Amino acid sequence: MNTLDIQNQLRRRWHSRDFSELAGGATRSLLTDRGDWDPPEGIEPKRELIRLAIGIPDGATLPKPDLLDSARRTMQKPGEAAFVYGFGMGYTRLRALLAERYSRERGLQVNEDWFQLTNGSAGAIDLICRTLIDPGDVIISESPTYMGTLRNFRGVRADVQTVPMDADGMLVDQLEPLIRELKAAGRTIKFIYTISTCHNPTGATLSLARRQKLLEIAAAHDILILDDDAYGELYFDQRPPTALSTLSGGYGVLTVGTFSKILATGLRVGWIHGEPEFVKLFARMRFAMGLNQLILRILADYMDEGRLDRHIQAARSLYKLKMTKFADALEQHAGKYVEFKRPIGGFYLWVNLKQGLKARDVWQTAFEEGVAVTPGVNFFASRHDPDGERIRIAYPWTPLEELEEGARRIAAACKRVAAGDIAG
Ligand SMILES: Cc1ncc(COP(=O)(O)O)c(C=O)c1O
Repeated sequence: MNTLDIQNQLRRRWHSRDFSELAGGATRSLLTDRGDWDPPEGIEPKRELIRLAIGIPDGATLPKPDLLDSARRTMQKPGEAAFVYGFGMGYTRLRALLAERYSRERGLQVNEDWFQLTNGSAGAIDLICRTLIDPGDVIISESPTYMGTLRNFRGVRADVQTVPMDADGMLVDQLEPLIRELKAAGRTIKFIYTISTCHNPTGATLSLARRQKLLEIAAAHDILILDDDAYGELYFDQRPPTALSTLSGGYGVLTVGTFSKILATGLRVGWIHGEPEFVKLFARMRFAMGLNQLILRILADYMDEGRLDRHIQAARSLYKLKMTKFADALEQHAGKYVEFKRPIGGFYLWVNLKQGLKARDVWQTAFEEGVAVTPGVNFFASRHDPDGERIRIAYPWTPLEELEEGARRIAAACKRVAAGDIAG
């Protein structure tokens, strides 16, 4: 056969092929999903969209000059360390700086050995799952929870068992009966996943009493806790209760953190924090030749200059202002249709719809009115919200001056839905 014949044969074989046939079972189960971040199908916004659906920091606050400064200094350093494979646990100086920050802010006495750097907190959770989970293992998660993590859990074929929440976080009283039931059925429970502080999507923060109870139950049943702390630094005024890692003395709790919400999501730098021998284990499952060494060093320089602390301080005030402005406007314009509790920090308002409004209808109609929000069901493993009809609003990214208009458009959508004029 000549080259042309081979090419033709290959084209016949591969062109327009259904590649999902090649996918493994876990991937196939994810292929059937509609994307959780997709806009409603077939609906066009009437006006330029105000995006209240994405959990990313305010773009105007990106400290570009400071990062440029750090980048320049990093590049000017002699040697090539920033330009070669990093392997292992990530850049030691950055790990040490995180350890200093945790020791200072959280009352733990830890050093760099307690930190492994990762590709964001999503990368941290993925690494933990790939290291610990066999198909069919149980992960207990509060419900609702961050949809990206739910996809990750499905991707490793874990069986996600859920515990409901209220305004004070996970209903830990329901945890023990569930654990007993699962153990009686011979199931392996690998860890309990919680977003204990400024939760996504509910905004709830786990109370101190519940934190203590959670640790007590986990200790009694010898189950690891995975605390996803993406928003723990972004409280407005009131400091959240003591972190689970501090309360536990650092044992039996893995915490994942990230620069995504305190600085920028595109950096893709996060970490796993926990007992050194445990943290080391995760390095065994890394096959991607380490992280981006340049960005780790730029971040270390940025932190060394004391700039991160100042940036976080400013972010707290800005997001408090944005949350207050949006919440006031939503109450003023849509109070008849919605109720919600103001969070102590983080990125989200979890909004309960009243008057029998359906979240899906409001999501679709709001999109047509020119405002993107997220339907509550996206945050449930079962794709069903047992406690009502809710939408999640993310306020940090939207410019301050657009927030009131965003609230007005949500109100207009609610009004339309109440009158039966539903988009789609
Ligand atoms: C609770 C939670 N965990 C993890 C992530 C992933 O963040 P990243 O991988 O950018 O750190 C997010 C992003 O929205 C989140 O809300």
